[in-house]
Amino acid sequence: MHVVTCIAPVNIAVIKYWGKRDEVLIVPTNDSLSGTLSMEQMHAKTTIMASPNFKKNCIWLNGKEESFDNERLLTCLREVQRRAERDGANKDLLKWHIHVCSENNFPTAAGLASSAAGYACFVYTLAQLYSVKGDVSQIARQGSGSACRSLAGGFVRWHMGSAPDGSDSIATQVVPETHWPEMRVIILVVNDKKKKVSSTSGMQRSVLTSELLKHRITYCVPQRVKDIEKAIISKDFNTFAEITMKDSNQFHAVALDTYPPAVYMNDVSHAIVDFIHCFNKAKKSTKVAYTFDAGPNACLYLLESAVAETIALVNHFFPGHNSKNIIQGLPVPPANV
Ligand code: DP6
Repeated sequence: MHVVTCIAPVNIAVIKYWGKRDEVLIVPTNDSLSGTLSMEQMHAKTTIMASPNFKKNCIWLNGKEESFDNERLLTCLREVQRRAERDGANKDLLKWHIHVCSENNFPTAAGLASSAAGYACFVYTLAQLYSVKGDVSQIARQGSGSACRSLAGGFVRWHMGSAPDGSDSIATQVVPETHWPEMRVIILVVNDKKKKVSSTSGMQRSVLTSELLKHRITYCVPQRVKDIEKAIISKDFNTFAEITMKDSNQFHAVALDTYPPAVYMNDVSHAIVDFIHCFNKAKKSTKVAYTFDAGPNACLYLLESAVAETIALVNHFFPGHNSKNIIQGLPVPPANV
């Protein structure tokens, strides 16, 4: 019997991934860029056991047994095993079936990047089990696109790549977690219910129907990625924040331009947007940036110096969404535990 347990972080995109040019390989229509959160409050934890006594592969997600007969899971397993074989892994171990237990310590499928942390953790743990070396972001991407960005700390860029087999569609670290130690993320959990339109089907529909998506990926994202990378490297919070907010707004505009529309933000989300703009205006400089994934929950990027005041004001103006819903994070990478 061979057992490995790992944890992997959540990442929150500041330039959103929305659209695939290859649905099977999960290759995106644009580059994206995210911050990796600290694993204290939010992480996925996966234990994988391999044994000659197991009769079949099994998986439990948050305590509930799910079918292993899932294309994305099977692809990740096959790809890690293929890499292991190439690297000369123990042949017996590769023949054994596996049992996987995976848990998230935060709401699943509520637009809180749970699939990203979950697949990053699954692939990273498999790689440890079979002693696979080197970058596995290309494999994690085939579990859930955004998962490839959870394999490194700090700020991470997922390159869309151009190779037909997706081999250059990988994630690379822009800066490590030590680069901008004052950076914080606060998550305001507006609603932790499962979202109505999954990211997978929402983006598929956007690719088919949204004119705005074409404009976004051709004219907006390439420049934004360059500019935000520069802002991160030079620690220019104003520019970083403005690009982050504009990109979130444009992603949700694309979701609304989709037919039928995919509506992810709700009235509370929009009230948070208004609040952040009022706050920044009152401060005469940008102190906080919001970004929303495919759900109503707000992710705020801000510097440590603005945390106390922001939390106090959020608690005052959004009393129903008070401090128990606020999770603070600092960037870090996955780990063997
Ligand atoms: C809005 O990675 O969950 O969070 O590749 O189909 O599994 P699949 O989609 P997923 O989409 C995430 C979309 C997003 C933006 C982002 O994280 O970049």
